[in-house]
Amino acid sequence: MEISINIKKRIKSKIIISEKIDFKKEIGKFKYDRAVIVTDKKIFKIFKDRINIAPLITINSDRTKEFDEIKGIIRFFIKNKMTRNSLAIAVGGGKISDMTGFASSIYLRGIRWISIPTTLLAQIDASIGGKTAIDFEAKNIIGSFHNPFAILIDPSLVISRKENLNEAMGEIIKYAIIADKNTSQNLQKLMPLIKKDFNALKKAIILCVKFKSKMVSKDPFDEKGIREKLNFGHTAAHAIETIYKIPHGNAVSLGIKFAVKLSRELNLINLDNYRKLSEIMKYDGFKIKLNKKDFEYFLKLVSKDKKNKGFSNYFLLINDKMELKGFKNIKEKTIEKTWEELCEEYS
Ligand SMILES: NC(=O)c1ccc[n+]([C@@H]2O[C@H](COP(=O)([O-])OP(=O)(O)OC[C@H]3O[C@@H](n4cnc5c(N)ncnc54)[C@H](O)[C@@H]3O)[C@@H](O)[C@H]2O)c1
Ligand SMILES: [Zn+2]
Repeated sequence: MEISINIKKRIKSKIIISEKIDFKKEIGKFKYDRAVIVTDKKIFKIFKDRINIAPLITINSDRTKEFDEIKGIIRFFIKNKMTRNSLAIAVGGGKISDMTGFASSIYLRGIRWISIPTTLLAQIDASIGGKTAIDFEAKNIIGSFHNPFAILIDPSLVISRKENLNEAMGEIIKYAIIADKNTSQNLQKLMPLIKKDFNALKKAIILCVKFKSKMVSKDPFDEKGIREKLNFGHTAAHAIETIYKIPHGNAVSLGIKFAVKLSRELNLINLDNYRKLSEIMKYDGFKIKLNKKDFEYFLKLVSKDKKNKGFSNYFLLINDKMELKGFKNIKEKTIEKTWEELCEEYS
């Protein structure tokens, strides 16, 4: 006998993109018994007047996502008698949304949560798609799929931190490379303006959010290969992020450069297309020194990447039709040559 149970998980998110959102009013429209806010100390200082709408816990403003911090958040849920009808509200960058989403997914077997992203990277990427995670031995190794019930994106929040724009450029470059032709062309027009023109910034946010939402809706649990595209550049990026302890978005710029160079090295793209991609990638906007000597560590980390499907290495690469395809077990020598080329560009 075979019995099957069909379950439709809660995977809907309502996304609002608007300037000067009245958070109290928007959240007041939802039905819930209690709510708490999870944020960090820096963000609280800047936005306390706008988010003074529920009991609040602040966690560290650093980049690591620790298990102990999850315990702290859950203790706060318990202290505030949060029930299955309660709401957890994340106010912050990708760290805060990843952690609040994860804590909400395991507390009482899952409660609803809302994301109010305050970095550009979180507005265009981390808050969308329901992936939540914390670090444990490796980056993002523990996590769950738990879509926020609502995502309230106020573009004016991101300008209080100048690094926000630079750090998001990596993901914007990614979208400009992997998105449909229309989105990609529009993003390419906006890219030189994003850092100086607020209207361009708003338009770019809308384009990225629409594109990611579409991809995520087609493949909500990352099982069909559609969402895999969103990982372009991320295998090398996660290794570089770990070695040089740099922000995720900056590492993504370098990871994409690595993937494009590796694609060229393996003759998947011609010189013309390589140059076109280089034009898009030039907007990364930050400086770093990479060291050829770090290759061994880099190789060890890419071999351990959680996306490598059990192969000794696995990279998403790009071809002349601008299609992405996974390549496995690439020769160490080829990876090393590509690493050295990247180091030469960042020496
Ligand atoms: N779940 C996903 O799909 C997904 C996607 C991409 C990235 N991520 C995760 O997101 C994290 C990176 O997120 P991030 O780039 O948003 O950085 P972050 O959350 O680490 O924040 C960086 C710093 O900016 C400060 N900050 C945030 N907003 C601010 C504001 N408006 N004004 C002043 N300071 C502000 C924070 O206090 C922090 O010190 C990584 O952990 C990454 O793994 C998750
Ligand atoms: Zn990313």
